[in-house]
Formats: sequence, structure tokens, C-alpha cells
Amino acid sequence: MQRRSEPLISEQAIQARILELAAEISRDYVNRELVLAVVLKGALMFAADLSRKLTVPTSIEFVRARSYQGTRSSRRVQVTVFPEENLAGKHVLIVEDILDTGYTTHFLLDRFRDAKPDSLELCTLLDKPARRNIPVAARYVGFTIDDQFVVGYGLDYEEKFRELPAVYVLDET
Ligand code: IMP
Ligand code: MG
Repeated sequence: MQRRSEPLISEQAIQARILELAAEISRDYVNRELVLAVVLKGALMFAADLSRKLTVPTSIEFVRARSYQGTRSSRRVQVTVFPEENLAGKHVLIVEDILDTGYTTHFLLDRFRDAKPDSLELCTLLDKPARRNIPVAARYVGFTIDDQFVVGYGLDYEEKFRELPAVYVLDET
């Protein structure tokens, strides 16, 4: 499987959008205890860059949910990592790489709600609304994209391409 040579979203475009998102989030969370709940592994790069542009004090937690094999989504969602911190009274912002069918995020939102945070919102680098099977909306969206499988900047195809600084369409031919 090859990626296209030209990025769909360039490194410059990603970084510029992150500055805008960070400004918006910093405004919204002023005087609140913000917890970034980073969804492994895909949101690693995005969360690292985003968190460094926030101007509000932030703590970082990790969560891992698996629902995917190859390029096809499955409904099975397994949470293998979840914050040990007490989230009651905190303002949790889930940081995702991509919102696709919505199953993973829907399941994660349920898990976080059980932990009784003061607020719970979602920030995703990419949104593929065409494939949504279950209604989930993100408060903060980096880029809305068409129904194509993308890799890079944290997103993988069978664990490959995560390290690329830009987002590329995977050629499924
Ligand atoms: P959902 O449960 O279908 O919304 O799937 C969300 C997860 O599927 C994401 O967190 C990604 O790990 C993976 N995923 C969905 N679309 C893509 C894609 O285009 N490239 C890489 N991973 C994807
Ligand atoms: Mg993911």
C-alpha cells in the first residue's frame, strides 16, 4: 500500500490550524482545570503540537481504544488504557485523530461520562462525516475531509506512516 506523493493536508496547513484551535480552546477553558485525554496512538502528534500552543494550564492523560483493522471499521471497541486520575470536577477534552463512523468516540464518551467530569468535549484533527454511522459531533474540528483513507501525522495503515509530518491519501489500488 502506497501513499500519494502530494499531501492532502500539508505540514504548514496542519500547524496553522493548530494555532487557531489552540487559541479557541485557550479562550474556552480559561480558569478551568483542563485535562487533555489523548487517544492513542493516532492523536499523539496532534496532541503534542496542540498542547504546546495552549495558554491554559493543562494535564495530559492517555486513553486507548481499538476498533479498527486494515481500512474497514468494526463495531467492536475495546478500551485498553484509561486514566487512573480522578476526573470528577475536571474539564475533559478528548483529543482524537479522526472521527469516522463514530463508534470509537461514542464508546469513549460513554466511558468518560461515567467518570463524572464537570465537562466533556471532543477535539478531532480530522472529521469524515460521510461515514458516520452513529451521531457524534466534535466541539473542535481541525479539517473536514471526504471519504478517503488517510495516513500520516499520527494516522496509520497497519502501523505504518504515523511519523509523516503531513496527511496523505492512501492509494488503495
Ligand atoms: P470510528 O470508530 O469508525 O470513528 O474510527 C475511528 C478510528 O478509526 C480512528 O481513531 C482511527 O484510528 C481509525 N481510522 C478511521 N479512518 C481512518 C483513516 O482514514 N486513516 C487512518 N485511520 C483511520
Ligand atoms: Mg485513533
